Amino acid sequence: MYKIAVLVSGSGSNLQALIDNIESGFLNCKIQCVISDKPGVFALERAKKAGIDTYVADKKEYKDELSDKILSLIDGKVDLIVLAGYLSILKGKIIEQFKNRVINIHPSLIPSFMGNGMYGLKVHKAAIEYGVKVTGCTVHIVDEGTDTGPIILQRTVTVLEGDSEETLQKRVLEEEHKALSEAVKLYIEGKIKVQGRKIFVI
Ligand code: GAR
Repeated sequence: MYKIAVLVSGSGSNLQALIDNIESGFLNCKIQCVISDKPGVFALERAKKAGIDTYVADKKEYKDELSDKILSLIDGKVDLIVLAGYLSILKGKIIEQFKNRVINIHPSLIPSFMGNGMYGLKVHKAAIEYGVKVTGCTVHIVDEGTDTGPIILQRTVTVLEGDSEETLQKRVLEEEHKALSEAVKLYIEGKIKVQGRKIFVI
């Protein structure tokens, strides 16, 4: 059975969707541990409630060594890393060692509203200010860049007149919760083939 490390920085609603989908039997995998780059976030409570081991690798403490610290916590213990609202950037050895084995969810239709500094509510603010009519979420493989890796799947959300960042975020999150579990399912069932920048579902 696939063993997964889930990395978080905040509320953990995407983590909760994974937990629920494992409990319902939709996903046949185990969350080995949840690691937060910030202490005190609600995602850690969700993990503890589900009986999952938790760690805090505080970005303020580890700074440039954060990714190496995370690697030391999971090395040899997990098959896949899922970034579920993890707002630091993974870099260095962990990316090499987990090549094509790190999945991220981003709250826009990549390549729009992505890259450094584009996370959480800022993404939805940018989408509203730009005036896009459709936004959504993207699940992708993590490479050396920020939000640049091959795309596994995307789900769309219509932007409504009068949407605020918060109302849009709420509707996009509903799609994220489905998209992340669908992508993890494809991955752990061996249905994803990465060829250069493209992913084929087989
Ligand atoms: C989600 O919208 C996720 O896509 C986003 O942070 C939120 C976390 O929510 N991630 C990024 O912006 C990464 N660039 P959650 O903690 O409730 O899952």
